Amino acid sequence: MVLDNHLLRDLTVTEKELWDEKVKQIADQHSLRQVFHIEAPIGFLGDPNGFSFFQGEWYLFHQWIPRKTKKKMVYWRGLTSKDLVHWKSLPMTIDPDTKFDSHGAYSGSAWVNQGQLEIFYTGNVRNQENEREAYQIRATMDEKGIKKEATPAIMQPPAGYTMNFRDPKVWQHAGKTYAIIGTQTKDKAGRAIIYEASADLKAWQVKEVLQPFDHDLGYMWECPNFFELDGSQVLIFCPQGATQKDLEYHTLFPNAFVIGPKWSGDGSEWKLKQPKLALVDEGFECYASQIVQAAGRTIIISWMGPSKTPLPTEELGWSGCLSLPREMSIKDGKLYQKPIQELTSLFGTAQIIDVEHSPSFQASSASQFKVAFKGNGQVLWNIRAEKDNPGLVIKVDLKNQILEVDRQAVFPLVEGAKTERDTHRKLQYSSDGKVLELEVWLDHTSFEIFVNQGRSVLSGRLFTTETAQNCNFKVDGNVTVTGEWHEIVK
Ligand code: FRU
Repeated sequence: MVLDNHLLRDLTVTEKELWDEKVKQIADQHSLRQVFHIEAPIGFLGDPNGFSFFQGEWYLFHQWIPRKTKKKMVYWRGLTSKDLVHWKSLPMTIDPDTKFDSHGAYSGSAWVNQGQLEIFYTGNVRNQENEREAYQIRATMDEKGIKKEATPAIMQPPAGYTMNFRDPKVWQHAGKTYAIIGTQTKDKAGRAIIYEASADLKAWQVKEVLQPFDHDLGYMWECPNFFELDGSQVLIFCPQGATQKDLEYHTLFPNAFVIGPKWSGDGSEWKLKQPKLALVDEGFECYASQIVQAAGRTIIISWMGPSKTPLPTEELGWSGCLSLPREMSIKDGKLYQKPIQELTSLFGTAQIIDVEHSPSFQASSASQFKVAFKGNGQVLWNIRAEKDNPGLVIKVDLKNQILEVDRQAVFPLVEGAKTERDTHRKLQYSSDGKVLELEVWLDHTSFEIFVNQGRSVLSGRLFTTETAQNCNFKVDGNVTVTGEWHEIVK
């Protein structure tokens, strides 16, 4: 069964239900279905939205196109979890069904206010001239559903900005409520605008325009997050069009962060002396990250997209997944991300990795490896390899502290697009002494590599056959390898 966009648009309600059932049936038993990463039951999954902690449970929504009938005709689909590991679908969605969001319920955030979950998102509209309009809409959620306010809280961007004005992320600071919104100046430069809300959340005033750099950076900033962490202030954002001089990125769109002094909220500008812009994830697919701060924790989750290549699951009826939730911290001015501790509840029995006696063994296609390399030699590590296919290849040069990841053999690219930037990454890592510790979280169609306790992360999608389960180590020179791995069962 191949997904056909034109046909799907014309389906009747009953035909739609049949279609949904069929896709779910295929997905249920398919080896390309993820085990512990969030995917949509059917259709396209995009940015994480509304990540929040409400009445003792985590809430998480994401951009969703149930049947991919029209590009960017996005909904919000929701999930809830007690442990950030086991998720249940919520019956309520945000549908693009009013005059203020008729062409997409775009990204946004959620927070708890007076015992209810508040939502703030962008309504995307194409008017009769096909020009874009952007409305920032408040909504509230209860057991019955999500109720949108009849009139948007912010009707348009301030003068001097285009209708590329979206993705409000709300936070609380010193008893007040703020939202940061990604946008673009009329001269096509990226910015984020901070709004302050009135106590009843009905009126939103511009508080500050964020441009902490000494020059313009990119043409549009999407999905900003602005938050305090371990005594600093962090801006995470997607500066579309940032130059390679500002930030070396090889993905379609960059997902970056800067760390600066705490934001005072007293009207003085948030400026950075020597901004060090860096990627949230040094891998292949990671975009539109959203953070939540709750229960004393700061957790980030990202969309493992976008992709130039049609992914193999698309013709089966679904595509896109989210990254693992990662716990963030700042130490010595550096950002760390670690997979949340709760994920270890999915571990099967620990298996020792004994490279000296068995450099090659069968691992499960959903597993976690924790390996330490010591010495000054080199290592070649294949994951999900099989005869004639090296799988995902990790190369380590301990002496020069270089880590390389090569997914060429496990990532299908459109003809002619097989470029280094789609398949290779090279990272100069830092470590005290000559030790490199890697934690690799492998799911059926994705991998996440955490370097030295989360100092760097490299993640991406991978597509192999079901039988590709070999794990091989080849050591050259002086290296000792110690570690263990666990099957992940859900
Ligand atoms: C980022 C983004 C957001 C927008 C949403 C629409 O991937 O373009 O800026 O709100 O996706 O799906």
